[in-house]
Amino acid sequence: MATTFHQAFERLRETRVWKSIFRRGPALTNRTRSLAVFGNLFLHWLPVKVREKSLRVRAAYYLGSISFLLFVVLAVTGVLLMFYYHPAVPQAYRDMKDLRFVVSNGVFLRSVHRLAAQLMVLLVFWHMFHVFYRGGYKPPHEFNWVVGVILLLVTLFLSYTGYLLPWDQLAFWAITVGTNIISAMPFVGNRIRFELLGGNLVGENALLRFYVLHCVVLPLIAVIFIAVHFWRVQKDGGLTVRPDDDRKR
Ligand code: HEM
Repeated sequence: MATTFHQAFERLRETRVWKSIFRRGPALTNRTRSLAVFGNLFLHWLPVKVREKSLRVRAAYYLGSISFLLFVVLAVTGVLLMFYYHPAVPQAYRDMKDLRFVVSNGVFLRSVHRLAAQLMVLLVFWHMFHVFYRGGYKPPHEFNWVVGVILLLVTLFLSYTGYLLPWDQLAFWAITVGTNIISAMPFVGNRIRFELLGGNLVGENALLRFYVLHCVVLPLIAVIFIAVHFWRVQKDGGLTVRPDDDRKR
């Protein structure tokens, strides 16, 4: 039976249809393995070789991967929240009340989004400190460190813009204080505050701007930079390996 299956598979591999889809034979040597990685849509962005040590849990504790997972949770719960939210004054606050008292599982949805947001800020910082501790900012990873700094800023700004959306007292005054701090910047401060709020006050223009930034602009920037970040981890030869990675603990 096994031989018959094997023969049938061999015959299938000789057909034109098979060859038109799979251009290469089985990956049995280092060369054909490399070609298999290069020629596959899903694998081509991976390096053909990685150091075994850089695959160990200790190399990153998956802190960056967990940050990404939280980003995905935020995107999914964020889209679900968008079904119930209007970025308008005072409807935004009423929508928060509806999420609490009317929408099925509304409290759960909102709580997951908030909790994931707080955890993401924590995890991104933790990931950054861990990378720093391991010297992951040194060549050849220095460009990825810069991409990481941009991701940190985007994460913080996502958190900040989301803060205004419930349109409650906490949100209103937090953004008032935050934008006043921005306006203290020399020369450009007032201009940035004006552009951010769409005026001189935290009002409906500000709510709309923060909404668009929070739901469209910043997530898009994050997706682009996360893609570059992941790609660079692979192309820089995997994670940083330290001499003491061999030590047993
Ligand atoms: C949205 C935020 C971020 C995400 C989703 C993310 C994701 C990742 C992932 C998945 C890795 C592979 C290792 C791992 O799983 O930990 C990684 C590596 C790395 N990240 Fe991040 N990261 C983020 C923010 C940052 C920040 C803020 C920095 C530093 C300022 C940074 C710098 C680096 C560097 C330099 C590496 C390579 C580490 C090495 O060579 O050992 N990342 N990141």
